[in-house]
Amino acid sequence: MIPVRSYLQLLARHLRPQGGRVAVLAALVAASIALQLAGPQLVKTFIDRAVAGRPAGELVRIAGVFIGLTVTHQGVAVGAAYLAETIGWTATNRLRAELTAHVLALDLGFHERHPPGALIERIDGDVSALSNFFSAMILEIVGNGALVTGIVVLVWLETPAVGIGLVALVVVGGLVSGHLHRIAVPWWRRVRASSAEFFGVVAEQAEGTEDVVANGAADFMLGRLAALLRRWLPETIRGWSGWALLWSASVILYVTSLVLTFVFGWRLFGIGALGVGSVYLLLQYVQMMHHPIEEMREQLVDLQKAGASIDRVAALLATEPDLRVAGNRRLPDGPLAVEFDAVTFSYDGDGRDVTLHDVSFILAPGRVLGLLGRTGSGKSTIARLVTRLYDPRRGEVRIGGVPTWELAVTELRRRVGMVTQDVQIFRATVRDNLTLFDPAVPDARLVEAIGGLGLDGWLAGLPEGLDTIVGPDDLSAGQAQLLAFTRVFLLDPGVVVLDEASSRLDPATERLIERAVDHLLTGRTGIVIAHHLATVERADDICIVEEGRIVEFGARAALVADPRSRLSRLLETGMEEVLR
Ligand SMILES: Nc1ncnc2c1ncn2[C@@H]1O[C@H](COP(=O)(O)OP(=O)(O)OP(=O)(O)O)[C@@H](O)[C@H]1O
Ligand SMILES: [Mg+2]
Repeated sequence: MIPVRSYLQLLARHLRPQGGRVAVLAALVAASIALQLAGPQLVKTFIDRAVAGRPAGELVRIAGVFIGLTVTHQGVAVGAAYLAETIGWTATNRLRAELTAHVLALDLGFHERHPPGALIERIDGDVSALSNFFSAMILEIVGNGALVTGIVVLVWLETPAVGIGLVALVVVGGLVSGHLHRIAVPWWRRVRASSAEFFGVVAEQAEGTEDVVANGAADFMLGRLAALLRRWLPETIRGWSGWALLWSASVILYVTSLVLTFVFGWRLFGIGALGVGSVYLLLQYVQMMHHPIEEMREQLVDLQKAGASIDRVAALLATEPDLRVAGNRRLPDGPLAVEFDAVTFSYDGDGRDVTLHDVSFILAPGRVLGLLGRTGSGKSTIARLVTRLYDPRRGEVRIGGVPTWELAVTELRRRVGMVTQDVQIFRATVRDNLTLFDPAVPDARLVEAIGGLGLDGWLAGLPEGLDTIVGPDDLSAGQAQLLAFTRVFLLDPGVVVLDEASSRLDPATERLIERAVDHLLTGRTGIVIAHHLATVERADDICIVEEGRIVEFGARAALVADPRSRLSRLLETGMEEVLR
């Protein structure tokens, strides 16, 4: 069944802002219908007058009007199609923007459950299917519906008996295709779901090409793809079979109606009840019904495809982030305290696999915390809670004394800067990578930030300065980190979270990074996930994490002075060996 209400709601919501255009389109469609209906009337007049032996001049005039009518109709049809496409694209672009903004506002948990490919298919594939829906809905369903109604009325006026027959055929045809439609909708839904899954897998593989090839997993990946394709093919065949069923039903209807009209007209002509012109008129009108009915049927197929898309788009828009609603509290300027108060966290929804157990600490404003722990101990997770990419299951994270969920999201992003272990570099200029495509940031500020981090030399080494195009694979891990530091420095946050790259860097880059980190942390609160001894030496406080629990927390100087502390033992054994 077509969910008419949700279709109409969607139409109303997206067409209302384009009311003027829609009104012009409606006028064009009405004009086009009137012109189409007038054609056979002219031909009928022509035939009747020709049979009656009227002078040639009169006939030529009628023919001239007919040609004018046809040409005008084509012009109107082109205008209507143009306008309908414009309306459709404007509406769907709006929807694309709305969906993209919505998806970006969702928490990371959502993004882990929905791979990029599937989201692309939803935001682009499903919305494109809808674009047709927006434009075709008015032009073809409403327009053709009006045309068919007009034809039935005119035929009825000409010969009521044929009119009644036509109405009966349209009703029977409508019932039959309605029934077939119900059978075919679920088939299409299956096809769309498979295609979303397919693109999800392809995007995932494309992203992982390096790892897939390097690990010799290509055969396995191909196997996975083949299995998907094997399932997709029969589903597609069935989806199109539904279409073929609807198509044959409409052809049978068309042929039957033509034959009946022909027989009827021939009979009435035989007994002298109809003239040749009227018989032609009836045949012509009945024939004219085929095209709009055909188009409406095709639109029904598109509508059922759109139905599946509308469902999924609506479901996506209705997805609520796992995060609690953000408040609107603000933070003071300058360095901010960071507090964890009995924080328990797990990545899975049911909280069975606990990643952080009852973590509590207080980091005073302006101090730098070195976070140490083996791989998988939960260091990055702590960083993600500070930046509120997730919310704790229990307990509270406070920044500047305010619980993170009471802060406005923009405030949190502005006052807490983070550099992750793997920095995302976009294929764009260095400038765009630094400002994240914000054209409002003047070059002078960029140069100042780069200078402030002691990276002038690095900037001078770029072949085209800020205009140098870089891509995800052009920069070393260290260079990417430098870029990310500058991003954060531009924000001028009160808290900086650095998830240090654990890979070894070349000594020159390492020195650059150390200098940059020094500058970055001056006058700010810092949480540095340290993999290097040098970083630990910079910290005021040290926190050692083991399997999601804090096993040691204290001022670095005190811990170093205490030979029984874990830190002393770590330093003795060689931290980089133990923590790697
Ligand atoms: N997005 C995620 N979804 C589910 N589990 C995750 C996710 N990220 C991390 N984990 C799990 O949480 C635990 C802590 O991971 P975390 O990334 O915080 O470790 P880490 O201390 O930063 O390690 P490393 O030193 O390797 O960066 C690990 O067991 C990890 O498998
Ligand atoms: Mg980590």
